[in-house]
Amino acid sequence: MGEVDPAFIQDTQHRPKLAVIEAEGIPLIDLSSANASNHVSQIADASKNWGFFQVINHGVPSESRRKIEGAARKFFALPLEEKRKVSRDEVNPLGYFDSELTKNVRDWKEVFDFVVSTPTVIPVSPDPDDKELKELTNQWPQYPPELREVCEEYAREMEKLAFKLLGLISLSLGLPENRFNLFFEESTNFIRLKHYPPCPIPHLALGVGRHKDGGALTILAQDDVGGLEVKRKTDGEWIRVKPTPDAYIINVGDIIQAWSNDTYESVEHRVTVNSERERFSIPFSFNPGQHVWVKPLEELTKGEKQNYRAYNWGKFFSARRRSNFKKLDVENLQISHFKVSE
Ligand code: OGA
Ligand code: NI
Repeated sequence: MGEVDPAFIQDTQHRPKLAVIEAEGIPLIDLSSANASNHVSQIADASKNWGFFQVINHGVPSESRRKIEGAARKFFALPLEEKRKVSRDEVNPLGYFDSELTKNVRDWKEVFDFVVSTPTVIPVSPDPDDKELKELTNQWPQYPPELREVCEEYAREMEKLAFKLLGLISLSLGLPENRFNLFFEESTNFIRLKHYPPCPIPHLALGVGRHKDGGALTILAQDDVGGLEVKRKTDGEWIRVKPTPDAYIINVGDIIQAWSNDTYESVEHRVTVNSERERFSIPFSFNPGQHVWVKPLEELTKGEKQNYRAYNWGKFFSARRRSNFKKLDVENLQISHFKVSE
């Protein structure tokens, strides 16, 4: 391990355990219409007790998924100098990147990011006084030539599923099905193709360090290698999520936690790596427009304390992005920083 960059080494308390606990009882929700009468209560239980769940019979054609997974493999197999032709940088956050940090430690991964809608508009900086906005533009590599088309097709499928889940979450909170839809006008959804190469120090490093997803929902496609771990709410143990073929993993994000005034909680998770097998995954982040101010919904807090002050999604997003790029001296931005004290 002589030549491994110390930037990858996790603090002792965050290193993966050698004895893996395989998940039991992680909710698996069958979204087929035959089961429709159970969807709302299953989503309510899963979101309350776990903060994440898996869905099957979700309506996303397996062909779309197979195509994007195939194209992602081809892209990451290119020589580094080829991938770096579409490198992201501080001006354009989209494209290829291999030096991302989570909580100031480098992740053992490489990614390719693209936005789902064009244009996607976000603030230039996290500074609240800086009102300047910018339009994000996707950078598509020359190889593999089909990448753009398969990504765009997959993105449309992800949006469909995301709105279906959003409607069910809304119903499960006792709200009208479309209660959240307005927030997703000019949404800032994005997709990451992720590659976790085999790692010579899997006991010291992580593919992605512990974190909570800052958006509304994440829809994750993971391959059959495994490595995703979630922090169980009951005892704080790290639990391995066993891959289910063709299923998607759904994470309740921080925004749903704030909207629901902590009825639903976004859950901490991380990705472990191994020394033998590379792993691929594709998260879709379902996010509101940058102009949206996130705060607990009035209907859910009548007569009760609102647990969060309103925060602007665009600024939050911008602050998080910066911390993934640069090592900071402070903890990165969390919704707990907007928590109203007792
Ligand atoms: C993420 C994430 C998990 C994975 O991108 O936020 O947690 O399996 N990904 O790649
Ligand atoms: Ni995540």
